[in-house]
Amino acid sequence: MEKILVHSYKGGTGKTTVALNMANLLANENKVLLIENDFFMPSFQYALRSEPDLYFNDYLKGEVSFKEVIFPDTQLNIDLIFTNKEFDPNEKIFGSDQKWFISTLQRMTDDLETLKKQYDFVIFDSPPGWHMIVINLIMMCDKAILILRPNSYAVSGTRKLIEIVYKRAKALSNMEMFVLFNQVPEINMSADLKRWAEQFEKEGVKYAGNIACSCETAYQMAHEVIIFPADHFFHIALKQALSKILKSPP
Ligand SMILES: Nc1ncnc2c1ncn2[C@@H]1O[C@H](COP(=O)(O)OP(=O)(O)OP(=O)(O)O)[C@@H](O)[C@H]1O
Ligand SMILES: [Mg+2]
Repeated sequence: MEKILVHSYKGGTGKTTVALNMANLLANENKVLLIENDFFMPSFQYALRSEPDLYFNDYLKGEVSFKEVIFPDTQLNIDLIFTNKEFDPNEKIFGSDQKWFISTLQRMTDDLETLKKQYDFVIFDSPPGWHMIVINLIMMCDKAILILRPNSYAVSGTRKLIEIVYKRAKALSNMEMFVLFNQVPEINMSADLKRWAEQFEKEGVKYAGNIACSCETAYQMAHEVIIFPADHFFHIALKQALSKILKSPP
């Protein structure tokens, strides 16, 4: 079982799009569990138009088991865990102290261990920036894909995030880190991308590739086409990136 975190410094970089399409790409030949961790701005329910009975929220509150919140999507052949879009600001999903996060990390690690033989890949979609829940995911995952837009402040912010959050957690975990540039404009940016890739590589973060920006894609997604077919540029570019990230790529 490979556990992969999809994350970014800033919001709106394409984490959810990458996580969903990656799960879909891998689901052809693998058993995949895709978990939404964005409790602040959930989007799986909107993207997939599903109404599960139980949510990750219920598991985190300690009300149900991990297995009970898994929702098998038979059409996509992906097992999903949703975050509830009907969030209540007064609802207490997280404990108020560090102890709660540490015990939740242990609980999730143990529960995933029991599913080790059941899944080839577990993919976590996450909120942007840092939060204790993200630290837990860093501790739990084997790999992180950091998605960023191709501009110098996104590069600086991502490098800071790696230095301050990832490297500290990494001292305790054994995670491999990758950067994937998304929404790259058509104008030639290869010199910039090469320079940034070198900066990241120097810090031990591998360059996984880049995905073009397409207004047509944004339009399609606005019309709820979230998972792209095999001949779509997003699918092709993501597949190429996965060949650098995964031990057994699709
Ligand atoms: N390559 C691309 N070309 C054009 N639009 C894109 C591309 N990738 C993502 N988008 C658009 O960018 C927006 C943000 O994408 P997405 O929701 O996947 O980002 P996110 O990182 O999950 O956001 P959040 O941080 O809010 O969870 C969406 O409207 C999506 O359609
Ligand atoms: Mg998202």
